[in-house]
Amino acid sequence: MKLNDKVVLLTGASGGIGSALARLLVKKGAGLALMARDIRRLSELREDLGGAIIAVAGDVGDKRDAERAVKETISRFRRLDVLINNAGVAYYGSIERMDMKSFGVMMKTNVEGVIHMIQGSLPFLKKTKGMIVNISSVAGRRAIPLLGAYAGSKCMVDALSDALRVEVMGYGIKVLNFCPPEVDTRFAKNAFKESGVDFEKQKNIRRIMTLRPEKVAGMIVRGIEKEKREIVVMKSVQPVNYLMPGVLDRLFYQFIMKPYHDRYS
Ligand SMILES: NC(=O)c1ccc[n+]([C@@H]2O[C@H](COP(=O)([O-])OP(=O)(O)OC[C@H]3O[C@@H](n4cnc5c(N)ncnc54)[C@H](OP(=O)(O)O)[C@@H]3O)[C@@H](O)[C@H]2O)c1
Repeated sequence: MKLNDKVVLLTGASGGIGSALARLLVKKGAGLALMARDIRRLSELREDLGGAIIAVAGDVGDKRDAERAVKETISRFRRLDVLINNAGVAYYGSIERMDMKSFGVMMKTNVEGVIHMIQGSLPFLKKTKGMIVNISSVAGRRAIPLLGAYAGSKCMVDALSDALRVEVMGYGIKVLNFCPPEVDTRFAKNAFKESGVDFEKQKNIRRIMTLRPEKVAGMIVRGIEKEKREIVVMKSVQPVNYLMPGVLDRLFYQFIMKPYHDRYS
């Protein structure tokens, strides 16, 4: 799909991967509807980028907000070609001590939010034979300790993408499921966290595997242009987990759980 003159509704546009995507999509000539809860940051981005952009304040976990975002997109642009479900939040913590209120908000954002946005957008995507892009995570392919609930929410995004792809095939709508590895954004800072769990501390060790948001945005845009069905960055996670899951268990124990236990014992 060529993005020039297409209309894209992008959630989670106020930071990280979403802001980088917005910048690239504007360069490609797309009209943009940017959605997030922080309208101040969205408005700053809109001013900075110029062009055909609207900013919509809203929580994807709230069905009415999702419907309003679609409505405002249509009233401004009269069409919708691409929905990008990028808004997301993590929960860092053990299953033993999981705070179920934070867990609930995370699931509402990462899973219900995706469904709300899809339901609101489908009537218009059917008219344009458009595309839905779900931003999942490699964490959904092999859960990491202390990120079990988040990984589970992304497994669900993977499942929704696979089912949806076939459900909307007859309408000519494409579905791209995009699974990035760790990306250098404020994601860890913005996450719900169990007290004492700090993934930021180990960031230096992981830096070699961490991607810049601009690079990830480029991969997503190329995926849209080539109408890919799925992109899993760091695909090696899957065969390694298939062939030697026990080795991964021990590595994760050594580097993540041992320091965690040391802190609590
Ligand atoms: N960074 C990583 O390492 C990484 C790795 C794999 C996958 N991902 C996925 O990539 C996506 C983007 O993450 P990021 O790294 O760019 O994180 P980020 O910097 O924390 O940005 C998250 C975006 O989502 C928005 N958001 C959060 N909750 C929302 C809600 N309820 N309703 C509407 N917007 C909401 C935030 O804006 P407001 O706070 O203004 O609402 C923000 O714009 C997420 O789906 C994440 O799971 C990230």
